[in-house]
Amino acid sequence: MIAKNMRFVSLLTLGCVVAVQATKLFDRNLAYSSPFVGYPQFSHDTRKLQARHVAYVKRQTVDNTGFDDEHYPTFYGADFSNAPFIWSGGINFTHSVASMQGDPFDTSVLLWTRAVPIGTPDQSVPVCVSFKIFDNPNLNGKPLDSGEAFTSYDVDWTLKVEATNLKADTKYWYQFADCTNAKTVTTIGATRTLSSPNTPANLVNGGKPLTLAVFSCSRFQDGYFNAYGVAAHNTSADVFVHLGDYIYESLGNGAAIGRKVLGRELATIFDYRQRLGQYRTDVSPTSLINHRDDHEVADQAWKAGTADSNDTMVGCAFSPSGACFTDRKLAAVRAYHEWIPIRQVDVDDKLRIWRNFQIGKLLDLTMLDTRNYDRDITDLYYNTDINSIADFQNRSLMGAEQESWFYNTLSQSQSRGAVWRIVGQQIVFTQLDEQGEFDVDAWDGYRANRNRILDHIQNNRISNTVILSGDSHANWVSDLAHPNDTSYDPVTGKGSLAVEFAGTAVTSSSSFGAHIAPLAADAISQIIVTDPLNSDLQWSEGSYRGFFTLTLDPHTATATYYAMRNISNPNLDAFASAVFTVKAGANKLTRPVAGGSVAAGILKASPSVLPTGV
Ligand SMILES: *[C@@H]1O[C@H](CO)[C@@H](O)[C@H](O)[C@H]1NC(C)=O
Ligand SMILES: *[C@@H]1O[C@H](CO)[C@@H](O)[C@H](O)[C@H]1NC(C)=O
Ligand SMILES: *[C@@H]1O[C@H](CO)[C@@H](O)[C@H](O)[C@H]1NC(C)=O
Ligand SMILES: *[C@@H]1O[C@H](CO)[C@@H](O)[C@H](O)[C@H]1NC(C)=O
Ligand SMILES: *[C@@H]1O[C@H](CO)[C@@H](O)[C@H](O)[C@H]1NC(C)=O
Ligand SMILES: *[C@@H]1O[C@H](CO)[C@@H](O)[C@H](O)[C@H]1NC(C)=O
Repeated sequence: MIAKNMRFVSLLTLGCVVAVQATKLFDRNLAYSSPFVGYPQFSHDTRKLQARHVAYVKRQTVDNTGFDDEHYPTFYGADFSNAPFIWSGGINFTHSVASMQGDPFDTSVLLWTRAVPIGTPDQSVPVCVSFKIFDNPNLNGKPLDSGEAFTSYDVDWTLKVEATNLKADTKYWYQFADCTNAKTVTTIGATRTLSSPNTPANLVNGGKPLTLAVFSCSRFQDGYFNAYGVAAHNTSADVFVHLGDYIYESLGNGAAIGRKVLGRELATIFDYRQRLGQYRTDVSPTSLINHRDDHEVADQAWKAGTADSNDTMVGCAFSPSGACFTDRKLAAVRAYHEWIPIRQVDVDDKLRIWRNFQIGKLLDLTMLDTRNYDRDITDLYYNTDINSIADFQNRSLMGAEQESWFYNTLSQSQSRGAVWRIVGQQIVFTQLDEQGEFDVDAWDGYRANRNRILDHIQNNRISNTVILSGDSHANWVSDLAHPNDTSYDPVTGKGSLAVEFAGTAVTSSSSFGAHIAPLAADAISQIIVTDPLNSDLQWSEGSYRGFFTLTLDPHTATATYYAMRNISNPNLDAFASAVFTVKAGANKLTRPVAGGSVAAGILKASPSVLPTGV
């Protein structure tokens, strides 16, 4: 607890000597370095914030006559004698129920909350928040880690701290409080650490299989995030992985179901913050490993633009604020790092979110950025020539740096003896002919890059690679061989190099048509799974919104797909639509695929319309 005023008075007498130490309470809030220190477009210089704070404190301790400060017109000429050095007028934890944790490691985890001062304090007064983390839900005994950190309007009152010195593979409970009033607390949040890298595969997660819940495409105006609730209440998921499109920049029309989005099409930092804040009024995923797809910036984002914005005169015209692509992207990335408990993996690389989690010897969870990092041009609706360049060797989806890192990471994972290589990324990997069309915004538009990945897996005999995908708003389960490789046998799976589990959207409308009924969707799936160009594809389902879980033990990976019955209102009504297994060492789906029957969608093996779950 801060002894109010005391600390800052003594700090003043030491002056600049303690400048580094003095910023400690700002620096502990990782939102200020969002995403990283040293680049003014991307972060805050906490020394300047501290100087601002100290200048304010000085005003409290010197005679204020003749104090001329245009920056604080409200306080000009006012009596400063009773003004607080830190805000003590009360805190509103506006998103307290939705306090979040993310990017767990073996000994640390990121904790997130938002602390808004009640009333309208002077801008230079920071809000101080304390946190404590315990090994029991009643918060008894001594906390394993605790501390205080500042937040301020500069970071939209968000607070992101790293709780450290934790034990591997352990459950924890944490709480935030107002430093100036211990009675103002958030709800108690639960979190966990992961197993340390050298834990034998059969001892990871206390010897129980580890379950990931995998989500993508949560468009607020399209429905309620029931998938997050079902994963939390009705599965044994240990870690939530969101593959991107966690928010959408667009407006749409959700008023009919009470899901009208605030603001306008997102362009400025205010816009992105407001949208993230609104999304977090619904159920949020916990113990989150999060990722960005295009809509965290804008539709069809690539390295130099989006469908409706770029850095030309016409490309700035989309926005009432006149924001062009680069400013828009910086605003999106900055707000994302404020609002999402994600680590900044490389402080010299402003856009990097690709990163790897070594979870014992059971798996490496490798998260790629196939969208915003260094992607060559995609389909922008007005340019139609992507098919003609999709094979170019010099085109990359990931960018050279991420590509070489990824190949090394796969090889290192195998050589360190991890059983599974789970690759979380945004877009559908397998070749997918959808009634005469390839989605060239997915890997089908970047075929040379896809071939380089498959070549690396094949040439280095990398086993047990499982690719997770989102973005497409439909379910697709595939063996993975080189596209059009006739030595692959779709009946037995012989010749397959890896497996892909692509999941549908949490809410975003089906790519088969908004609100398409199961039977109508199955008719489309039937055409797609029997198309000879889609020989790898084993299951297609396009009606239901939902998510899937992936349960891993040293011998088997099991994917269970969940279908939500109704996303027009908040509920936990869902059913398992299909279950797939992959045996360690097999590099293909177990036959018969999905045990020979599914509750929704169409299997290649028995392409007849089965009774659906409704
Ligand atoms: C606290 O924040 C919530 C959510 O924004 C709001 O509904 C509520 O009115 C706020 N309470 C106070 C006292 O400002
Ligand atoms: C920029 O985007 C606009 C659409 O907003 C498009 O009409 C224009 O061709 C784009 N310019 C370039 C150079 O890509
Ligand atoms: C990329 O490769 C294509 C096909 O080989 C070639 O036509 C094009 O000029 C190359 N582009 C660059 C920038 O090197
Ligand atoms: C596979 O063959 C089809 C039909 O010839 C072609 O359109 C497609 O581009 C091929 N895929 C790859 C990755 O070469
Ligand atoms: C879904 O719920 C809404 C009410 O929120 C209802 O009007 C609609 O009929 C339901 N849909 C189905 C398929 O049950
Ligand atoms: C999920 O759990 C909730 C609460 O425990 C329960 O009410 C609901 O019926 C469950 N849903 C399913 C599909 O089992």
